[in-house]
Amino acid sequence: TNTVQASTATDSPVVVAHRGASAYAPENTLAAIDKASDMGFRWVENDVQRTKDGELVIMHDDNLKRTTNVEEVFPDRSPWKVADFTAAEIAKLDAGSWFDAKYAGARVPTLEQYMNRVEQNHQKLVLEVKKPELYPGIEQDTLDVLKKTGWLDREHVGSKLVWQSFSADSMRKVHALRPDIKKGFLGTPSVAELPEYAKFVDQINSRHTTISYAYVASIHAMRGPHDKPLEIFTWTVDEAADAQRADGYGVDGIISNKPDVVRSAIADD
Ligand code: G3P
Ligand code: CA
Repeated sequence: TNTVQASTATDSPVVVAHRGASAYAPENTLAAIDKASDMGFRWVENDVQRTKDGELVIMHDDNLKRTTNVEEVFPDRSPWKVADFTAAEIAKLDAGSWFDAKYAGARVPTLEQYMNRVEQNHQKLVLEVKKPELYPGIEQDTLDVLKKTGWLDREHVGSKLVWQSFSADSMRKVHALRPDIKKGFLGTPSVAELPEYAKFVDQINSRHTTISYAYVASIHAMRGPHDKPLEIFTWTVDEAADAQRADGYGVDGIISNKPDVVRSAIADD
């Protein structure tokens, strides 16, 4: 099968390691994408937020509490929002111990560090800009880092990058700035709404519990901004039975914290 482009309806779905191989290593750290790479996964997903001094960092929550030791290091800085800390402060935090003592010392990567590691690992990325409404201008900031790290050249844009968001407004902005980048909308718009989304995104990436065979067929029947059929990467699928169901619907990608479980579940005999 095609090893360059994400697969289309008739191929096996690509398996994307959600926040890295996040069931096995601390989410959104370099260790989590290295783990995915060691397990043989080319595609990883991440989440991007912005610090007080404008650095982009990899973090799912807009708050540092759950996945770092911020309360210990900065006890008087409640409520510990990413946007209230500088990049230098965030660089001091331990983003691994909460998950497992053996990951003590893992850091919150900057987007720049992260892109460089994805490249070194020969991986591909589903990049999610989180809560763009909190961070005016984050679309251009993200493009600046992608440019600096070499991710806006034809090879990367052509086959190694998908940019997704729950915000349609943000994806419209990205499309206006860089129509060539492959984009995904996170959600489950009605079939009647799909033509509007197909003007600015190439993928509709829906929660796995919200989709059906018919919905996936409706997505594939539409053509996106690059005049190719719309695709669907579904999330977050950690059970074998759910992976088999999504595969049966003909999805193009499955995003999972346990990509090994998905790979085994959908393996052809
Ligand atoms: O990639 C899809 C998924 O990551 C969206 O939800 O909250 O895990 O970022 P969330
Ligand atoms: Ca995400």
